[in-house]
Amino acid sequence: PEAHKGCAGASKVNVSVLKSQAKVVDTIDVEDISEKAVLCRCWRSKNWPYCDGSHNDHNKQTGDNVGPLIVKKEK
Ligand code: FES
Repeated sequence: PEAHKGCAGASKVNVSVLKSQAKVVDTIDVEDISEKAVLCRCWRSKNWPYCDGSHNDHNKQTGDNVGPLIVKKEK
């Protein structure tokens, strides 16, 4: 895409999650979410696809500002 032209420093977002797969796709059934699900968006979690707090280290080391997606059920 145009936006990535000249993006010489482009690097992979995913460094360790399920690298044997051609594409990482996860499915969570809404019915399986009891109260909320906290989903990783930084690709550093050791408990993929759920957030394990690894984004804090990533943000500290890189100056990034990423965090999880929280899916909540209404009470
Ligand atoms: Fe990736 Fe929290 S560990 S968003």
